[in-house]
Amino acid sequence: MDQPWIRGKVARQAHVGLPPGTVEEEYGRSGFFGGYAHAYRLHAPVGWVEIDGPLKPRAYDLRRTLAPGQDDTQRAMGRTLFAENDDVRIHHVRIEETPSFWLRNGDADELFFIHKGRGILSTELGPLSYEPGVYLVVPRAMLARLEPSEPTEAILVESAGAVSFPDRGMLGLHALFDPAVIDVPTPDLDAVCAAADVAQDQPEKRYEVRHLRGGEVTRVVYPFHPIDVVGWKGTTAPMRLHTKDIRPVLSERYHLPPSAHTTFLLRDAVVCSFLPRGLETGDPEALRVPFFHSNADYDELIFYHEGTFFSRGGIEPGMITMHPAGIHHGPHPKAAERAKAQGRTDEVAIMIDTKKPLRMVHAAESSEIADYWKSWAT
Ligand SMILES: [Fe+2]
Repeated sequence: MDQPWIRGKVARQAHVGLPPGTVEEEYGRSGFFGGYAHAYRLHAPVGWVEIDGPLKPRAYDLRRTLAPGQDDTQRAMGRTLFAENDDVRIHHVRIEETPSFWLRNGDADELFFIHKGRGILSTELGPLSYEPGVYLVVPRAMLARLEPSEPTEAILVESAGAVSFPDRGMLGLHALFDPAVIDVPTPDLDAVCAAADVAQDQPEKRYEVRHLRGGEVTRVVYPFHPIDVVGWKGTTAPMRLHTKDIRPVLSERYHLPPSAHTTFLLRDAVVCSFLPRGLETGDPEALRVPFFHSNADYDELIFYHEGTFFSRGGIEPGMITMHPAGIHHGPHPKAAERAKAQGRTDEVAIMIDTKKPLRMVHAAESSEIADYWKSWAT
């Protein structure tokens, strides 16, 4: 264990019993489980009166109309790209009708978080039903498409690296969620046989699959239904994980860092799930809302799905906040007071942290909430 240097007035235990008249800021490396410096300040570091430059914290309201997708494949799948770097491309998905084709995305694993709507993720290994609050993972180049039975909205992370799960360390193999709660598809034999009959009765019928590679589309057309798998075995498959099956860890006497809520590991990016949980009610001196921090190594993009967001007001389901690496953020001034009266939070939000800077693309601009960076001062 590294022994810290201690200079001046500090809290003996981080996030508990701050020196009177101070706020605590955590400068953290590696997404808050690396090196750190706790600074006890006289002013909240978000008490700025002016910010000019690309690190300005931003917020977006995806309930507003976004610019349409880039090409007809993206548009047919209801995808609007709004942020990207070399590791991830983050889309808002709004889809009401099943596309006429299936997709094999040779550029990325696809990780969906369903915000609204129900339907089926149709894959070549079988179907997975979905509903709000569900994560769906499609491995790179596996055939899949969303088939909505209700208008569906989702956040889609295209991940250039494989989507995997974090090591649970001392929490053990079954903490946060038991791997047994992950669902994989079973071939729908009735549907496969019925489709085979259609192909036999209608030999002129055609089925289109679009392959993506290097951003370019290759159309492949079959005279039979492309979902003709009657059985499969293996270690890689489309997956479904419901956030209701994730059981967050918490301490009633210590505010755990966001890394405790990591659900997926990507290449140079992570996805965390902030879920309903108890607050720190076991010690009146323990912080109940996130400490002020600047995440030195990661940009932080949060999508708000459901509930009341305990760390700040003015944010509603369907909105996104974006806090670039190195710029401060933390609790809204009123949130700390409000949290003192609360024993729980009912928020459901997902956070996508990226090591390389995220570029917000043109489509995001139409949904931007003006002057979000000023909101801490009010
Ligand atoms: Fe943060």
